[in-house]
Amino acid sequence: MASSPFFIVAIDGGAASGKSSSSRTLSERFNLLHVDTGSFYRAITAEMLRRGVTASDLAAVQAALIEMRLGTRIAGRSAQMEIGGRVAGEEIRSREVNDHVSHFAAIPAVRTALLAYQRGQAEVARAHGFRGLVMEGRDIGSVIFPDAAFRFFLHANPAERARRRASEGQQDSIAERDRLDSSRKTAPLACPPGAVLIDTTHRTLAEVVEQMAAPIAARLAAA
Ligand code: CDP
Ligand code: CDP
Repeated sequence: MASSPFFIVAIDGGAASGKSSSSRTLSERFNLLHVDTGSFYRAITAEMLRRGVTASDLAAVQAALIEMRLGTRIAGRSAQMEIGGRVAGEEIRSREVNDHVSHFAAIPAVRTALLAYQRGQAEVARAHGFRGLVMEGRDIGSVIFPDAAFRFFLHANPAERARRRASEGQQDSIAERDRLDSSRKTAPLACPPGAVLIDTTHRTLAEVVEQMAAPIAARLAAA
C-alpha cells in the first residue's frame, strides 16, 4: 500500500452538498493534499473587489488577472492560494464575495487563468510528500482532472442545503449561485459522465465518506 501510485480524487457538487467536509476527512484518512478550488475563486473575487473591478468590465478583469501573481502555501493538509504573496483571510466567506463569486467564475478568462494553477496542485502535493490529491469544486471531474482515478458528484435537495448553510450562520443565496453555476457556458456545474453520483440529503457525513472511501481503500489494497 505504501508504494501505491499517486492518485487524484475529484469531488464536485453544488453549495452545501458536503464537498468540503468529505474532502477534509478523505485527506486525513488517505494522506491527500486537500484543495478547495472554491476558495481560489473566492480569493480572486475578493482581490477583484478590493481593486474595484466589477465582473461586467471584462477588460479590467483581464488586466487585473495579468497583474495577480499566484502562489500556493500549504497549511496543514490544505492548499491556500497566495496572491502577491498574501493569503486572503475570512473575507473570502463574506456576504459580498458570496454575492459576486459566481459572476467572476463565469468569465472564461478567469477560468483559463486558474486552469494550469489548479492542475499544478498535483505537483505541489507530490513535492510535499502527499500520497495524492483530493480536489473539490464544480468542474474538477469534468474539466480539471477528467482522468482522475476517483470522481464523485455530490447532490442534496435545495431545502436541506439551505438548512445546512443557515446552521453555519452564513448569509448565502445558494440557489442563485447554483443557477449561475449551472447555466454558464464555460464549465457549467453538472455531473460528468462516469462520475459516481451521491445524494447526501438524508445521509450523515460519515455515511457519505464511507461510500467514497470504500473504492479508494479497495484500489489501494489491490495496488
Ligand atoms: O462552499 P460552496 O460550495 O458554497 O462554494 P465554493 O466551493 O466556495 O465556490 C464558490 C463559487 O466559486 C461557486 O459558487 C462557483 O461559482 C465558483 N467555483 C467554480 O466556478 N468552479 C470551481 N471549481 C469552484 C468554485
Ligand atoms: O463544501 P460544501 O459547500 O459542498 O459543503 P460542506 O461545507 O462540506 O457542508 C456544509 C454543511 O453541511 C456542513 O456544516 C456539514 O457538516 C453539513 N453536512 C451535513 O449535515 N450532512 C452531510 N451529509 C454533509 C454535510
